[in-house]
Amino acid sequence: MSQIKNDLENITSLADAVAKWCSDFQRELPTRPVAVLGNPQPPQAQLQQQGLGAEQAFAQFVAQIAPSLSGSAGPRYLGFVTGGVTPAAMLADWLVSATDQNVMVPGDSISSAVEQQTIEWLLQLFALPENFTGTLTTGATSANILGLLCARQHCGDQQGVDIARDGIGDAKIDVFSACPHASSKKAMAFIGLGRDSIITVPCLAESEAMDVPALKSLLAASNSPGKVVIASAGTVTGTDFDDLQQIAQLCKEYQAWLHVDAAFGLFSRLLTGQLSLTAGIEHADSITCDGHKWLNVPYDCGMFFTKHPETLQQVCSVSAPYLDISNALPAYMDRSIENSRRFRALPVWLTLKAYGLEGYRNIVTDNCDQAAALANWLEQSADYELLTPCRLNVVVFKPNNRQRDIKKLLTSLNQSGQVYLTPGMWNGQQAIRAAFSNWRTSMQDVEIVCQLLAEKVAE
Ligand SMILES: Cc1ncc(COP(=O)(O)O)c(C=O)c1O
Repeated sequence: MSQIKNDLENITSLADAVAKWCSDFQRELPTRPVAVLGNPQPPQAQLQQQGLGAEQAFAQFVAQIAPSLSGSAGPRYLGFVTGGVTPAAMLADWLVSATDQNVMVPGDSISSAVEQQTIEWLLQLFALPENFTGTLTTGATSANILGLLCARQHCGDQQGVDIARDGIGDAKIDVFSACPHASSKKAMAFIGLGRDSIITVPCLAESEAMDVPALKSLLAASNSPGKVVIASAGTVTGTDFDDLQQIAQLCKEYQAWLHVDAAFGLFSRLLTGQLSLTAGIEHADSITCDGHKWLNVPYDCGMFFTKHPETLQQVCSVSAPYLDISNALPAYMDRSIENSRRFRALPVWLTLKAYGLEGYRNIVTDNCDQAAALANWLEQSADYELLTPCRLNVVVFKPNNRQRDIKKLLTSLNQSGQVYLTPGMWNGQQAIRAAFSNWRTSMQDVEIVCQLLAEKVAE
């Protein structure tokens, strides 16, 4: 019997072995090294001529790869903005692979309807108005690309050019932003406007938030008929929020497309009494958010919301006779960069079913409390300086001793295997960032981190 048929014969015992390994990994996450530094490599080997079968291949994974996997889904991985994976989302992700649906066009499966329902639930989770709709993406980067593609199409429409159909031609587009995430610059490169072409709006003092009067002056000075503003709801270092209410007003006045990058900041809408941070977001034309960050679903999952599905459709739709299936449901390939698409709605659907709005409110609230506790400890410490107040889930700080090399301190902290932190820049100085966005993190983890910070700075 061929290896592949043999594997199918033994699928139950193979699946049991993998499920056992995954359950153990999940249980052991808090005690695994948080990160594996030093670029580990698999053993040198040529491609197999004859396959080993899944059981042997899995054994090689366990021996050669598993020991060097990061514990990034664990509670003390505070680098970047990294979510973990909820039990329900993990199980759902297995189902995605087992059922291998292609959420491309509706008509042969319930999967498109599930994506539609999931998007409706996400809009409810974030208390966004019903005139938004959306699509699930591979992450916030691709959501930012979709946002700028739609913005570009809108600017073309204003100038009588169908850019998706005919190319950019003579259309003029000015893009304004104060503190765009690097992925928006990448998006600018992808859409042909150029990564260095964003017109920089100054920030407010000691902040990454946009100086709105400065935006007004720049919009007024622009003679481009097409205008786009990329606003931030939660910048990646300072967690600053642009004043979306005022920016939306200006966008209306200057007929500019408003795209809001709220990759993790959108989750602030779950916090009691914090809707003011994102007030005005309901006036945005498009919004980016991430699933693999604070929603704690596996990579890769992002969200793109827009009030202009027709523009999104103009940008993404492909016509080919074999794709011509009329259905009341959207063909999500006409709303996405990819044609063939993973059933990434299922982990979102299942985790929202499993834990509900309240479950997520608790995760977000707890993470913000943990960030506040760390910020508080740093403020009390003689050895560290908190560089900016902690507004949400990110803490930005540096050691007080000017002689202390931050890179060395960071390496020593990360080499401990107890925590993983990443660098940042604040007001032109090097900083350390700690971002809390994992459902597993507890106050006990914060205590471990504080103790480690005290020990390592003293070394
Ligand atoms: C504000 C913001 N936008 C966009 C991104 C890009 O997200 P992703 O890596 O999921 O594409 C990030 C990631 O940290 C972010 O913080």
